[in-house]
Amino acid sequence: MDLKSYVRDVADFPKKGVSYKDITPLLLDPEAMELAVKLFMQNLPHTDIDKVVGIESRGFFFATLLAEKLRAGFIPVRKPGKLPHRTHSENYELEYGTDTLEIHEDAIKQGEKVLLHDDVLATGGTAAATCKLIEKCGGEIVQCTFLVELGFLKGAEKLKGYEVSSLLKYT
Ligand code: PRP
Ligand code: MG
Repeated sequence: MDLKSYVRDVADFPKKGVSYKDITPLLLDPEAMELAVKLFMQNLPHTDIDKVVGIESRGFFFATLLAEKLRAGFIPVRKPGKLPHRTHSENYELEYGTDTLEIHEDAIKQGEKVLLHDDVLATGGTAAATCKLIEKCGGEIVQCTFLVELGFLKGAEKLKGYEVSSLLKYT
C-alpha cells in the first residue's frame, strides 16, 4: 500500500501558488490509517514515552492514536484562548505576521519524555514553537514526528538538535 496515493494535492489552496497536501483521503481509509500508525510506531526511538503532544488542529488526528498505542498521555497544543487552565504561550512567524500557540502549564512533569506530532512539516515554525512550549514545561523531546514533510521548505533546519521523522517526504 502506497500511503502517498492517499494524499491529495489541491492546487491554489488556501491561496494561489500553494499546492495543499490534503490528508483527508487517508483518514477515510481505516487500512491506510492503520498502516500510518504502524509505520510511526516502527520509527520511534526505543524509549518509553510519557506524553504525546499534538498540534491543533490537524496534528490531533494521529497524535491521539499514537498516544493510545504508546499508553502515553495526550496533550493538545492549541491556538490562543482555547485552553481553559493556566498556559505557556509561544509566538511564531507566519509568511505574513505572527501567530501563537499555547500549552497547559501542568501538562508535563519535569523530565517526562515527550513525542511531538503534527500532520505536516512545512517551514517548521509551528513545530519549533511547540518544542519551546514543551521545554518550558520541563519535557524532554524524544522525537518530532510528521506524516508529511515538505522538504523544499527546509523546516527540519528549524528543528536542529531534535530527532525528526516523517513518513511521506516531498522534495
Ligand atoms: C498547518 C499544518 C501544520 C503547519 C505547518 O497547520 O497542519 O500544523 O501548518 O506549517 P509550518 O511548518 O510552516 O509552521 P495550520 O496552521 O494551517 O492549521 P490547521 O492544522 O488547524 O489546519
Ligand atoms: Mg496544523
